[in-house]
Amino acid sequence: MAAHLMKAKPVVAAIKADLSDKIASLPFKPSVHFVRVGEDPASVVYVKSKETTAKEIGMDAYTHVLPEDSSESSLLAFIDQLNQDDRVDGILVQLPLPKQIDADKVLLAIDPLKDVDGLHPLNVGRLWVGQDAPLPCTPAGLIKILDFHNIDIQGKKVLIIGRSNIVGKPAAALFLRRHATVTIAHSRSRDLPSLCREADILVAAIGQAGFVKPDMVKPGAVLLDVGVSRIDGKIFGDIDPQAAEVASYLTPMPGGTGPMTVAMLMENSYQAALQRRKYVP
Ligand code: GUN
Repeated sequence: MAAHLMKAKPVVAAIKADLSDKIASLPFKPSVHFVRVGEDPASVVYVKSKETTAKEIGMDAYTHVLPEDSSESSLLAFIDQLNQDDRVDGILVQLPLPKQIDADKVLLAIDPLKDVDGLHPLNVGRLWVGQDAPLPCTPAGLIKILDFHNIDIQGKKVLIIGRSNIVGKPAAALFLRRHATVTIAHSRSRDLPSLCREADILVAAIGQAGFVKPDMVKPGAVLLDVGVSRIDGKIFGDIDPQAAEVASYLTPMPGGTGPMTVAMLMENSYQAALQRRKYVP
């Protein structure tokens, strides 16, 4: 029996419809600002998709493009302008940044109230201690797609492969909040195939095409594929599509976790606008 494919499309459509309604009834338009430095082809596509989606649901969205050779101080000065601008509700600086810029400094410079990515260290800390915080978009999208399919998380063994600040670590925080037993594995983990075979829910976020093979999957497991690799113009996930023969549920690549990330960013942008303006609908 092949796994059920958890396509993002119906979930994203429901989230967008809900947010469109809520935004239409606000006395103001939330405004979200995207900052892209340089022309990384994947970032161009991702930021365009974020801007388009924000506009589709009735928000004001702007993309600011800075040159590839921008200095760190010029980017920090630009972020400060957005921080100070009372018309700006949300700020997202697309990662990765060119090598002359320290991404940690940039994330720290964003006003935590305008941090729609949930990547500011203050918000990361709030998330880990269980306080209100914007949820990092990709991990939040994973939980959302599981909830949409009524897949239980509590008490399950969740293995996350990858320990990035954008996906692996915040995913661990979110699954822990949902009472899962969480393991984070990485390139130095011993006997990764055995760890994988124990997982009820497996999140792959390393960016190595087809890394998770069918014989690494527990029969009936739920597989969430976050890795994106482009090879000869084709997109591959971290999970070998053959794993669908063993799993019960699998996110497709493309069309799975990526569009969910954008949808959750919209949710964060809406919430940031309400909180910053102290508006209760
Ligand atoms: N690059 C890839 N994913 C993300 C994300 O979620 N946020 C930002 N800012 N950049 C990214």
